[in-house]
Amino acid sequence: MRPFSVLMFITIGLLLITRHPAISERLPQPTLFLYTNDPDDVIMEGDTISIFCETKYRNAKKFFLTCLSTNETIEQKGSHFSLSQITSGAHTCKYCDGASCSEPSDPEHIYVRDALPEPIISVTPSKIVHFGDRITITCSAHYENVIFSLYKGNKLVKEAAASTNTTSYEIQNIGRENAGQYMCWYKKTTNNRLIQSHPSDPLMIRIKDLPKPTVSLEFPEGDSGSVIIHCAAPRTDSRMWFQLLRENKIVEQEKEDTQENKATFTIKDLNEKYNCIYRIRIGTDFADSKLSDVVFLGKGDHTTGNIIRLIFAAVVLIATGLILRKHLSEDQNLEEPAPDLPAARVLLVKESVEMEIQMQHEPAKENEYKSI
Ligand SMILES: *[C@@H]1O[C@H](CO)[C@@H](O)[C@H](O)[C@H]1NC(C)=O
Ligand SMILES: *[C@@H]1O[C@H](CO)[C@@H](O)[C@H](O)[C@H]1NC(C)=O
Repeated sequence: MRPFSVLMFITIGLLLITRHPAISERLPQPTLFLYTNDPDDVIMEGDTISIFCETKYRNAKKFFLTCLSTNETIEQKGSHFSLSQITSGAHTCKYCDGASCSEPSDPEHIYVRDALPEPIISVTPSKIVHFGDRITITCSAHYENVIFSLYKGNKLVKEAAASTNTTSYEIQNIGRENAGQYMCWYKKTTNNRLIQSHPSDPLMIRIKDLPKPTVSLEFPEGDSGSVIIHCAAPRTDSRMWFQLLRENKIVEQEKEDTQENKATFTIKDLNEKYNCIYRIRIGTDFADSKLSDVVFLGKGDHTTGNIIRLIFAAVVLIATGLILRKHLSEDQNLEEPAPDLPAARVLLVKESVEMEIQMQHEPAKENEYKSI
C-alpha cells in the first residue's frame, strides 16, 4: 500500500509540472548583443548605445530589456533598443508572443564610465634623487591622440597633445622647488565629446643627498688574481643595500638588506673601473647614495695586485728611511746616510708588509705606519 501511494503522488506531481503552461510553452532563449561607437567598447556616461535582443523566432510581439541591478524594464515592439541613458550592471532581455514568453537571455555586463581609465605615471631613473640630477616623468595613457596634463600639486606644469599614448617631462637640474607630488590626466575626444580621464596615481619626487661611500682595497694573501673592495657608508640604517657597479653603471655584485654599514666585494676582473653605492629604504622606495670614488686597478694581468703592493712597500720604505734619518739626527749622527735598501728588500716587503714594519721598528712608532 505505502509504496503504491508514493508512486501515485510522484505521477500526479509530474503531470502537474509537465502541464504547467509557462514551462511547457517557453520560447527559445534570445541573445543580447551590445553595440557601441567606440572601437574599444568603452561606454561613457551619456553615450548612445544599441542593444539587440536577437532570436530566430519570427512571431515575437514584445521585447523586454531588464537591468538586473535596478529591476528596471524597458518594453517595446522591436528587438533593437537604442539607449542614451544606461546604468552599469548586468542586463538581460526576453520576448513574448502574446500567449507565452521566452527565457531571459544570458546576462550581459555593461560598464558605463564617468571618466576614461587613469594614465600611468612613472619616473626615471628614480623617485628619490640628488640635487642637480636629471629626471624624466612619463605619463602613459591607454589611448593615442590624447591631450595630457601634468600637475605638480595644483599647478599645471605641462599640457601637451600627443599622437602617441605617452608624454614626457624632463627636469634637467632638480632643485628643491621640483620636489613634490606629481599627477597626470588626459583628455580624449570620444563620439565628438571631449572626455577627461581619471587622475593617475600620485608620484612623489624626493631629494635625498646621501653622501658617497668610501672605498678601500685589500689584496688577499696567496691569491694574486683577485682584489677585495670594501665599501663603507658614512651612516648607519637598520637595513642597507650595497652595490658594486662597473663604470657603465651595470651592477656587478650586490649585498642585499644588510644590517651593517659596509660591504665587501671580491673581484677577479681587474681590468675594469668600479664604484660602489649604498641604498637605504625610504617608505617603499630606495634612496641611492652618490657614487664612490672610482677604483681602477689598471690593465688586468695577474701581477696588478703585486704592483700595487710594490708601490705600497716603496712608500713604507721611504717613510722608514725618513724616520730612521730622524732617529739618526736625534742621535747627533748626521754623517750616516739613510739606508738605501736594495731591490731584493722591496720584494721581501712585498711578501709581508706587516712583518717588515715590525722588523724595522720599535713598537712605539707603529702608529706612524698605520697612518700611511
Ligand atoms: C526584482 O524583481 C524580482 C521579481 O520581480 C524580485 O524577486 C527581486 O528581488 C527584485 N530585485 C530587486 C533588486 O529589486
Ligand atoms: C602605451 O603604448 C605602449 C606601446 O604601444 C604600450 O606598451 C603601453 O602599455 C601603453 N600604455 C598604457 C597605459 O596602456
